[in-house]
Amino acid sequence: MSARPDHVPDEPDTMPTTSPRRLAAPQPAGAVRSAGRRGRPSYGLDAPPVVAGYAGLGLLGIVFLILTAVGSAPLLGAGFGFCAVGWGTAALLLHSSLRGKRLLRDRVLDALTWHGDEDIVDLGTGRGLMLLGAAQRAPQGSATGIDLWRSIDQAGSRPGQLLANAAALGVADRVHVVTGDMSAPQLPDACADLVLASLSVHNIHDRAKRRAVIENAARMLRPGGQLAIIDFAKTAEYVADAHGAGLTQVSRSGLTALMWPPVRVVTARKPAS
Ligand SMILES: C[S@@+](CC[C@H](N)C(=O)[O-])C[C@H]1O[C@@H](n2cnc3c(N)ncnc32)[C@H](O)[C@@H]1O
Repeated sequence: MSARPDHVPDEPDTMPTTSPRRLAAPQPAGAVRSAGRRGRPSYGLDAPPVVAGYAGLGLLGIVFLILTAVGSAPLLGAGFGFCAVGWGTAALLLHSSLRGKRLLRDRVLDALTWHGDEDIVDLGTGRGLMLLGAAQRAPQGSATGIDLWRSIDQAGSRPGQLLANAAALGVADRVHVVTGDMSAPQLPDACADLVLASLSVHNIHDRAKRRAVIENAARMLRPGGQLAIIDFAKTAEYVADAHGAGLTQVSRSGLTALMWPPVRVVTARKPAS
């Protein structure tokens, strides 16, 4: 297995070609243009309204401390409390998005079995952290990211940003973008060797639709294919649903503090026959 792409495309801003083995995937107009930019990939901030909310709490704490200092109100305890919870949590969330999640991504992908020609599907791919890391490990494979592009879940979650990151890593010619709901993906049966989902499935509030995500993942996997889901909630449910969908070797990791909130990783495999 190689951790690097096999080549960097000379013309990254041209439409990726589709090999027969690759998944059919509509490319949104305008998205490919921005895929030509080279540089470092940028994976953005998860749940920006939540981070802003905790920063707002921290600011309120500072206001309380100032009011206490000028003698307008005795709010010393509340001021320190709000500062600690607000700035502390905002810092943990920032660290998770900017560093912790990359470390966890590498840990999770390194633990999977690779042959270098995998077709990969990433559910709720956002700016492509998991998808592109996986694409780098499969130089002869393909990487399809499905998303509804909700910036409330991840700042800058959009096809153009995903493709720009793919171009920065030299894998744009193997990356496909699908706009759609991961609980009803318009992809064929047995089209993937690896299905990934990172911090995305919990965003679906309907229990039946979350079950449909796992059922569709099992449907899309080829015999012997692998599933890996990272999430901070609902992971016991994913385990039950993976069993229900006929997957084997289902396991759920302990909590990892690389991220805040701490996450677990659910892995499973489709039986070989
Ligand atoms: C917190 S972001 C995580 C993105 C990426 N997986 C990562 O780890 O960086 C969650 C992503 O899930 C997407 N999403 C939420 N609900 C979805 C749904 N029902 N179908 C497809 N994508 C969805 C959002 O648009 C967002 O890009």
